Amino acid sequence: MTDYTLMAKQIEALAEIDRDFVPVLANASAVLWQGLERINWAGFYLLDGGSLLVGPFQGKTACVRIEVGKGVCGTALARDEALRVEDVHAFPGHIACDSASRSEIVLPLHSGGRAVGVLDIDSPETGRFTEEDEAGLKEVVKALERATDFSRLRI
Ligand code: SME
Repeated sequence: MTDYTLMAKQIEALAEIDRDFVPVLANASAVLWQGLERINWAGFYLLDGGSLLVGPFQGKTACVRIEVGKGVCGTALARDEALRVEDVHAFPGHIACDSASRSEIVLPLHSGGRAVGVLDIDSPETGRFTEEDEAGLKEVVKALERATDFSRLRI
């Protein structure tokens, strides 16, 4: 079983050193990358001048900018809801950064009561992410929202 509570604690402990979003999200993507099996990308897209700009991540090179409302990431942000996509080929408008990706989970991140970005995790396996993963990742996102200073974002 994936220990999401431990990951959330590690992320909060690392954020005690500096709360700025760059180091916190960089270390969070590393914690997720090390802690999750069968994934090929883990990272963040953050609002920047009205669209999403890629932030800290682990994995292969990724799309730099995503419009709000586009792809899984932009849709999750626009709807302000978590999206668990069992088969990315069945999601209209899915943006394929890595053709190996088969399933994906995206969760919005909030600051000051509004969604300011998303956590995105991809897998080369169809249906990789379960309800339990979604619940655990929501715990990780809550820790990030408590720990991170997003004030340097260019929203
Ligand atoms: N698949 C995402 C794009 C980001 S990459 O997966 C890293 C989407 O459809 O929004």
